[in-house]
Amino acid sequence: MDIKGFIFDLDGVIVFTDKYHYKAWKTMADEMGIYFDEEINNRLRGVSRMESLEIILENYHGEPLSEEKKIELATKKNDIYRNLLETMTRADVSDEVRNTLDSLHQKGIKVALGSSSKNAKFILEKVELLDAFDAISDGNNITNSKPDPEVFVKAADFIHLKPSECAVVEDAFSGIDAAKSGNMYAVAIGDATNYDKADYKINRFSEILNIC
Ligand code: BG6
Ligand code: MG
Repeated sequence: MDIKGFIFDLDGVIVFTDKYHYKAWKTMADEMGIYFDEEINNRLRGVSRMESLEIILENYHGEPLSEEKKIELATKKNDIYRNLLETMTRADVSDEVRNTLDSLHQKGIKVALGSSSKNAKFILEKVELLDAFDAISDGNNITNSKPDPEVFVKAADFIHLKPSECAVVEDAFSGIDAAKSGNMYAVAIGDATNYDKADYKINRFSEILNIC
C-alpha cells in the first residue's frame, strides 16, 4: 500500500462532539414536542444539518412545516450547538491524536480533513489543531453529504492527490461507504469497526501509523 495522504473525518475521530449535537437537537425537539433519543442521534452521524433535521422530523406529527420554519429550527439548533462548542479547548484533543498527525507529516504524508460539518474550522480553531491539516474539506464546500464521496474527493483534490492514493479514517458507516465509493482505502475506528466494508480496522488512533 502506498498511501500518500490521509483524510480524517472530524466528529468521532479527532473530536467527540456527539454529545453537543445531541443536547442541541434535544432542546429543539423538546420545544417542538418531537420525540428524540440517543438512538435517533446516532443516525445523524456524517449527515448534513438539514438532512439531520429531516430525520428528526420523522417523529413530528403536526401541521406541515414550511422551508422557512425548517431553516429557523436548524439555525436554532446550530446556535445552541455553537454555544456548547465554545467550551471546547486544546484539552479536547488527545496527545495521541496530535502526535500521530505530527508523525504523518514527518513521513511526508499529506493530512486533510473530510467533514460534513459547517462548523469544522471553528472546532479545529477551538482545539488548536487547524495547523495540523494541509487542507480542509467540509460542509461549506459540498452539495452532497456522506455516503456521497464528494467531501473526500474534494479533500484529495485539495492535497493534489488521486483518490486511490488516499486513506480515509471514519467512525460512521456512511463515511466508510463514501470512502469506498470514492475509490479510497477505508480505515474504520470506533463504531465503524463493526462494518464489513472497511478495508482496515483500528482500535487506537496511533495504529494509523501501521498502515503507512
Ligand atoms: C457531521 C456530524 O460531522 O456534521 C453530523 O457527524 C452533523 O452529526 C454534520 O449533522 C453537520 O454538522 P454542522 O456542524 O454543519 O451542523
Ligand atoms: Mg464521524
